[in-house]
Amino acid sequence: MKPSVILYKSLPDDLLARLESHFTVTQVKNLSPETVEQHAEAFANAEGLLGSSEKVDEALLAKMPKLRATSTVSVGYDNFDVDALNARHIALMHTPTVLTETVADTLMTLVLTTARRALEVAERVKKGEWTKSIGPDWFGIDVHHKTLGIVGMGRIGLALAQRAHFGFGMPILYNARRQHQEAEERFNARPCDLDTLLRESDFVCIVLPLTEETHHLINAEKIALMKPSAILINAGRGPVVDEPALIDALKAEKIHAAGLDVFEQEPLPADSPLLSMPNVVALPHIGSATHETRYNMAACAVDNLIDALNGNVEKNCVNPQAVK
Ligand code: DGY
Repeated sequence: MKPSVILYKSLPDDLLARLESHFTVTQVKNLSPETVEQHAEAFANAEGLLGSSEKVDEALLAKMPKLRATSTVSVGYDNFDVDALNARHIALMHTPTVLTETVADTLMTLVLTTARRALEVAERVKKGEWTKSIGPDWFGIDVHHKTLGIVGMGRIGLALAQRAHFGFGMPILYNARRQHQEAEERFNARPCDLDTLLRESDFVCIVLPLTEETHHLINAEKIALMKPSAILINAGRGPVVDEPALIDALKAEKIHAAGLDVFEQEPLPADSPLLSMPNVVALPHIGSATHETRYNMAACAVDNLIDALNGNVEKNCVNPQAVK
């Protein structure tokens, strides 16, 4: 008999067929208590779980006593209670690598869009305000040869450094838990403590996952270290930045602008003060959201679940040590 799995995300037809060739699949719309109740038997029998953007916590795991592997269509896994998974020896699989280049493109998009005020001035053109040769009130600031600070030098940070170094001639600072020889040798990146990075960078790019240590790491005190001309970019996780502190700093013109792909609350509430600030570019968490990359992530997540339920957790597993 094929193992049973719960799928809580829609998949392209060919990937769904691949999943169904290995497992008996029950597709549900979300992981809410109501949904779990409605499909109680399927949840009780499921050995695998595949999807994204829903909380997987102890309360859910208690309803899934046979669960052996979870597979998220994302690199980030802050929606998962990893301790609870570990205690139950359940594998947590994720999708690093396949989205690296696309997320680095998103970061560079935010750098360029905020610095050159591309959205703001394009909007003026659409409103018919471009009636004569433009003056300084339409100008942006340079990106090339400015200093780029990368907070979190993982795969995505490295891909951003590559773009900034070769494409824009930018000196690069980075702050990370360990030294990155590749970043230093290939992109001339200089390691430094967070405060130095914040003081010296023209663009501060946050590429950190959300953990207890990174929650509100960039708070009012840290933002105050930035240059008034500097731009804050966040494409890691929203709660790494203390959003009210960022809003205050932008209002008080303590920093020049912000480019944000992630927020403390997503979707961003319609009454967020960020939405009325011309110097804020707010994107709807598009980090990895291209057709090609989202397909590759879904394919990777399907393969990860097949691997994990076959006892293979060598690749793309967050907690191999916990799996028996
Ligand atoms: C991830 O995979 O964690 C990204 O945030 C998706 O864009």
